[in-house]
Amino acid sequence: MPKTGTTARSAATKKNSTKPAAATPAKAPAKPPASGARPSGAALEIRDTRTGKTYEVPIAECAIRAPELKKIKSDDPNDSGLMSYDPAFLNTASCRSAITYIDGDKGILRYRGYPIEQLAENATFLEVAWLLRHGELPNQQEYDRFVHEITFHTYVHENFRKFLEGFRYDAHPMAMLNSSIAGLASFYPTARNIFDETERNISIIRLLAKTPTIAAFSYRHVKGLPFVYPDNRLSYVENFLSMIARMSESKYEGNPVFTRALEILFILHADHEQNCSTNAVRAVGSSHVDPFSAVSAGVAALFGPLHGGANEQVLRMISEIGTVKNVPKFIESVKSGEGGKLMGFGHRVYKSYDPRAKIVKKLADEVFKVVGVDKDLEIALELERIALSDDYFVSRKLYPNVDFYTGLIYRSMAFPTDFFTVLFAIGRMPGWLAQWEEMLLDKEQKIARPRQIYVGPAERPYRSKLKPKQTL
Ligand code: CMC
Repeated sequence: MPKTGTTARSAATKKNSTKPAAATPAKAPAKPPASGARPSGAALEIRDTRTGKTYEVPIAECAIRAPELKKIKSDDPNDSGLMSYDPAFLNTASCRSAITYIDGDKGILRYRGYPIEQLAENATFLEVAWLLRHGELPNQQEYDRFVHEITFHTYVHENFRKFLEGFRYDAHPMAMLNSSIAGLASFYPTARNIFDETERNISIIRLLAKTPTIAAFSYRHVKGLPFVYPDNRLSYVENFLSMIARMSESKYEGNPVFTRALEILFILHADHEQNCSTNAVRAVGSSHVDPFSAVSAGVAALFGPLHGGANEQVLRMISEIGTVKNVPKFIESVKSGEGGKLMGFGHRVYKSYDPRAKIVKKLADEVFKVVGVDKDLEIALELERIALSDDYFVSRKLYPNVDFYTGLIYRSMAFPTDFFTVLFAIGRMPGWLAQWEEMLLDKEQKIARPRQIYVGPAERPYRSKLKPKQTL
């Protein structure tokens, strides 16, 4: 790859020849990329066997920049240059981010440098939400103001009642949440001014504040219960539980173990770097649409069974297995490919135990102490035991992920199975918003627009296969 910059260019002129690489060793250091990423001084030497030319691609932060590959061309004058082909982004970084760090081999997850274990143990969800967006933990004054703002934006426009009432009695709550979040854009048209910091701020507050309200209203709609309005005397999580569970009592008083468990689960789900839904938020947001529309794309992505929808599928899978004695047969069916995947197992990034799953498992014990052991826990434990010792799963480094045990906790708190992913979405909201804003303010980002390798037919003339057209 020819280098950029004066010295680099002269080196490139020499390198970009038909001589073998060994004959033209690279001397000049690579120019720093526009992003400010510090180059390591190292470079990747690529020899194109089509032309015999050798190129040097700077390596910075363990990455090469794919646009650099465009400079590698065959002798065909129509060749627009080399691309990298990476379906499903198996090894492509789409951004530089300062929000979440994951080491999948070591099972490490940190938000803005803070280990997830410490945040889950000590922080509140709104503290984490602030941290994700601002990069630092809030001081008391910042926190109080933030909590106040969220608390006083929990109400939704009354027209939302009609909107939600329009759904069928058995609508999936994720479908309701997704369209409702998108619908918020119609209530706040100025949110389209995404480069106005005040507008961005209020949109972020609104999304954090109203998502639990919309989620709870969806729940009540499906149950045929009257909507419970937000109660500003309560904390974020208590208020959510109040909107879910309150009947005729004047003030909702939740079980503190449930409240804290849900707070921890929200914290564990708050961000997970470039996962499917976050990537969707960033990609849609890169068109500079309003944040409600961008985030609704994230909700849609989360709905899928390979992503947030897995927590729902784990419970469905366990109930299909039925009893502990059926577990070995089920595992065999997974291994043969006939039984589908073992839901709640495996992860694109974690190739060891998901650190969130460890915390969730401990949390499950605490919740079960209050409500009694979930009848399906035995099946889950047996699935885990066999999978962790079976060569199929061991050799593929398939460990329980965050969704494996969360469903059992949610169910013991009496949430219906199809509501589990909604709980994940409430937790993920601060992460989507922090990532959306980071993308927006990143000077290197542009509209997300991947390339493709066209494999369809070459040009061919149109010959209709329809019956001859009738004259109108
Ligand atoms: N059960 C059985 N086999 C599996 C599983 C599983 N859960 N996950 C992966 N494999 C196998 C897969 O068939 C493949 O085998 P082979 O090499 O023989 O073809 C190998 O392991 C590698 O899997 P992959 O599909 O290439 O991995 P991926 O990174 O594309 O997929 C995943 C990651 C999470 C989508 C996948 O592990 C999966 O479908 N898990 C079940 C669904 C699930 O629990 N999703 C929640 C993810 S965590 C929460 C979140 O972020 O949403």
